[in-house]
Amino acid sequence: MSTYTLLNAGRIVAGPGSVANITEIVAEIGAEKVLIITDKGVAGAGLIDKPKALLESAGVAVAVIDNTPPEPDVDQVNAIVAAARLHAPQLVVGIGGGSAMDVAKVAAVLLANDVSLRDLLNKAPIASRGVPTLMIPTTAGTGSEATPNSIVLVPEDELKVGIVSPRLMPDVVILDPQLTLGLPPAITASTGMDALCHAIECYTSKKGNPFSEMLALKAITLISRSIRKAFAQGDDLEARHDMLLGAMYGGMCIATSSTTAVHALAYPLGGKYRIPHGISNAILLPFVMRFNVVGNEGKFRDVAIAMGIDVAGRSNNEAAAALIEALFTLNRDLQIPADLKRWKITEADLDALVDGAAKVTRLLDNNPRPMSVADIRSIYAQLM
Ligand SMILES: NC(=O)c1ccc[n+]([C@@H]2O[C@H](COP(=O)([O-])OP(=O)(O)OC[C@H]3O[C@@H](n4cnc5c(N)ncnc54)[C@H](O)[C@@H]3O)[C@@H](O)[C@H]2O)c1
Ligand SMILES: [Fe+2]
Repeated sequence: MSTYTLLNAGRIVAGPGSVANITEIVAEIGAEKVLIITDKGVAGAGLIDKPKALLESAGVAVAVIDNTPPEPDVDQVNAIVAAARLHAPQLVVGIGGGSAMDVAKVAAVLLANDVSLRDLLNKAPIASRGVPTLMIPTTAGTGSEATPNSIVLVPEDELKVGIVSPRLMPDVVILDPQLTLGLPPAITASTGMDALCHAIECYTSKKGNPFSEMLALKAITLISRSIRKAFAQGDDLEARHDMLLGAMYGGMCIATSSTTAVHALAYPLGGKYRIPHGISNAILLPFVMRFNVVGNEGKFRDVAIAMGIDVAGRSNNEAAAALIEALFTLNRDLQIPADLKRWKITEADLDALVDGAAKVTRLLDNNPRPMSVADIRSIYAQLM
């Protein structure tokens, strides 16, 4: 292990009803013109009404861009940034899942820096922090509110690309589980599994460190004990609270460690077949971990314990095997597809998928067990 760093959002305000603190937060920042970036689903669920009304009654001018598409591509992000520029906001508020928050984060940077989105995708540095940002997650999944990442789809490469910079860290986060009570079961399941992937991948990553270990094990425990309840009884506030905290801890893990081959192999599935991020990761998780266990049994025993699996009297090998079985069962219980059949992906698509995944060296390099091109091919083949 070498030097390790944990980036944090400037301030985190959490708990049921905490969205009501928005007025005080915005007053402290001193913003009189605020732009909310969200999507139609979130706006349609009424989730921006309260923060918007609170701000307006405090005399703050609020503009709203609510057309963020799911998992947006370069042109779509550029269109939102162009619209955002017209409002000249003093604060950008991202309300939604990873799609809305990632756009809000990168828009805030683009509004204040003389650099294009294309430049950033080509790894241009970001000179200065952008317009201040406030992130309010409404899914318990990506943890984008706690990461220095924004993910953008690059259509010509059929790949999703991560822009990573400390300048993307949000200034303030509001973590209010009441905003997630109405999240539909299927999205609860897929986004929750994305969060579990972040925690397990970051814990077992070559970039794992004392910060990520603490956060990942807690995230795994919170998510494992509450994901089924949040899926089946969406109005259970305690389960929603666990999920939202677990997801943010997962994001914090990304900010100090890194995801690994699950996310690397998911990127081409999102980029080429538009399989939602949470679903592609959830499908891959047990298969990739079955590969990763070999040589890393002790670490996977820790994950099994964090998931509440009884490992007493079992060898590390047996504990790790029980964990893999538990991941398959969890996907089944959450009605997540077990393979890629429904997307009609066949052997003929293998070469392109393997090529796409092999390009994601940013994540593959951190996989605890080196993954060759033949290994990647074998894992995709198992999913067909
Ligand atoms: N920045 C990061 O560190 C990071 C990490 C992982 C993933 N991502 C990215 O995040 C994106 C995915 O984000 P996501 O999984 O949160 O999905 P999403 O933001 O695309 O949202 C999925 C759907 O859920 C709806 N929704 C959200 N909250 C709701 C609520 N409370 N009630 C009802 N409907 C609601 C939205 O309208 C949308 O239709 C991908 O682009 C992925 O690559 C980013
Ligand atoms: Fe993710």
